[in-house]
Amino acid sequence: MKHLLKLLDLTGDEILDILNLADQLKYEVKHNIPHPRLAGKSLGMIFEKSSTRTRVSFEVGMYQLGGHPLFLSSRDLQIGRGEPVEDTARVLSRYLDGIEIRTFAQDEVEDLAKYADIPIINGLTDFAHPCQVLADLMTVREFKGRLQGLKMCFIGDGNNMMNSLIVGGIKTGMTVSVAFPVGYEPAGQVLEFANKANEESGKQIFTLCHDPLEAAKGADVIFTDVWASMGQEEEAEKRRKAFAGYQVNDKLLALAKPDAMVQHCLPAHRGEEITAEVLEAHANEIFEEAENRLHAQKAVMVKLMGDK
Ligand code: CP
Ligand code: NVA
Repeated sequence: MKHLLKLLDLTGDEILDILNLADQLKYEVKHNIPHPRLAGKSLGMIFEKSSTRTRVSFEVGMYQLGGHPLFLSSRDLQIGRGEPVEDTARVLSRYLDGIEIRTFAQDEVEDLAKYADIPIINGLTDFAHPCQVLADLMTVREFKGRLQGLKMCFIGDGNNMMNSLIVGGIKTGMTVSVAFPVGYEPAGQVLEFANKANEESGKQIFTLCHDPLEAAKGADVIFTDVWASMGQEEEAEKRRKAFAGYQVNDKLLALAKPDAMVQHCLPAHRGEEITAEVLEAHANEIFEEAENRLHAQKAVMVKLMGDK
């Protein structure tokens, strides 16, 4: 593994290796066992969109690993004034040991990886949110003891989260069911991967539908995310109407397994994709999920930037 651009690029074993290391790093930090595996290394963090969790967990994670994080707002970088990504990549490769980037187009992240000599980590694009989904899988495994054979359900928009969860879930042996309104389907590349998984296994590992209640039946874990993602603010009103029935609430949860978990990458919009009651009843799992961003990303950084 040279970069983390999207989960489609990783094998199931590579994902599980990251989760195992993440568990170990979590144990070490909880028991005050120092682990400066990235001493002397620097991570550049480019943000073209807002962030609370990603920024803070990468910065603190790098610090805990003995390395140095640099926050680089695209507003201040020359890239924000039009310097080509291929030049930025080659320049930053001379100073840094890795780059985390949050941006709009997946192509920008792929181009950065093409021209950089150092590992690139996708901190969210419109297409994918691999760091979040590694933390999500880590959390589900922590609470359920396994991933293999569990049913994951995602209710809502075919966005970066749905795309990455479908891929991450299938690659780690889960069955995945998603429900979204007509016109808000996941990316074609992801559907192609999921349909192929069905064909190759001869089973219905992946199902999609427009009925949230149908999708939630028998689920071990229910995921949701905002109806309007960053960059879609102008569509918010239109989306509120389109997604009106796609809420994770008590009625929907009643159809899942009695001990079903609820996960949300946050930030959440209470009263839209999730009710305040469900969020608070599952706060323990949801905030553990947020914490696990730290451990999962540290594992990614060690795998990509650590001494081989
Ligand atoms: N879940 C997530 O990526 O949060 P931030 O946007 O706060 O980084
Ligand atoms: N789908 C959301 C995820 C935020 C972490 C967005 O892209 O805004």
